[in-house]
Amino acid sequence: MKDFITTADWKQNELQQMINRANEFKSGASSDVLKSKSVALLFFNPSLRTRTSFELGVWQMSGHAIVLEPGKSAWPLEFELGTKMDGIAEEHVIEAARVLSRYCDIIAIRSFPKFEDWKIDRQDQMIKAFAKYASVPVINMETITHPCQELAHMQAIQEKIGKPQKKKYLLTWTYHPKPLNTAVANSSLLISTKFGMDVTLLCPNESYLLDQRYLDIAKENIEQYGGSFNITHDIEEGYENADIVYAKSWGALPYFGQWDQEKPIRDQYQHFIVDDDKMSLTNNGLFSHCLPLRRNIKATDSVMDSASCFAIDEAENRLYVQKAIMENLITQDL
Ligand code: CP
Repeated sequence: MKDFITTADWKQNELQQMINRANEFKSGASSDVLKSKSVALLFFNPSLRTRTSFELGVWQMSGHAIVLEPGKSAWPLEFELGTKMDGIAEEHVIEAARVLSRYCDIIAIRSFPKFEDWKIDRQDQMIKAFAKYASVPVINMETITHPCQELAHMQAIQEKIGKPQKKKYLLTWTYHPKPLNTAVANSSLLISTKFGMDVTLLCPNESYLLDQRYLDIAKENIEQYGGSFNITHDIEEGYENADIVYAKSWGALPYFGQWDQEKPIRDQYQHFIVDDDKMSLTNNGLFSHCLPLRRNIKATDSVMDSASCFAIDEAENRLYVQKAIMENLITQDL
């Protein structure tokens, strides 16, 4: 049984098939593949797009979505094995995953890092525990990667510029007053390199490099699928002739959990904001962001309101790609 936890587990052509199916959904195709089926949506963290698009997508495919918020409307969960549960968790994932598998046909999880120790958070323990103990497919709604966002992003890129191969793609760090998850940045590298783009990662300095695991996968993808992968800390070099600019803010991994030490460093880089001057260096480049976005902090009003910004199209595509993912997983054994 296959899960949808990271696109690293899926080949380019398999992901392309899901994007093609998402295009069909966008053009009006219907599916009742979830008829008499239910999908558990577990949100450990807040959401606007993910919750709305998953609930709607399940309903549009004649299924029923059950939203659970562990620690709020559902019991707080423990995921460590062999631990003495003398903290706040009332239930272990072992039982939660097994019980939900008796009721539901898919389990989807949003579980962000705890932002205390990256060595622990990078293990992605919560979703891996669900995948281990569930007997139904598990979907990642954002943990340390955000694969549903990746597919929506790639669907939108293909809509805007056609074949992505060899197109110049910039992932730029941008400022935010708080340290944010690296998930979307990791995902940006995974999907852009998987589709053979000429990818540049622009970040303020070495402390803002992403986890080596994702840099390594990016390089492996380039070897397998073509394209190139380059890292720079020079803003002009990063933006030069870019066809796609994707922005995201994230906390520096060496300071993980010691955010008071990172803040004065991060605050020096507020000029990484995406603005018209930087976009003018591109090849009439297009801009996107996964959202939510703080205007005039991460990107200016002018960039967000420009015709080159496709963040809303990308957000819309979440609905279609997630329907394609659920359809793929629910029919895999038929
Ligand atoms: N991009 C995204 O996942 O949005 P939400 O956090 O609102 O779900």
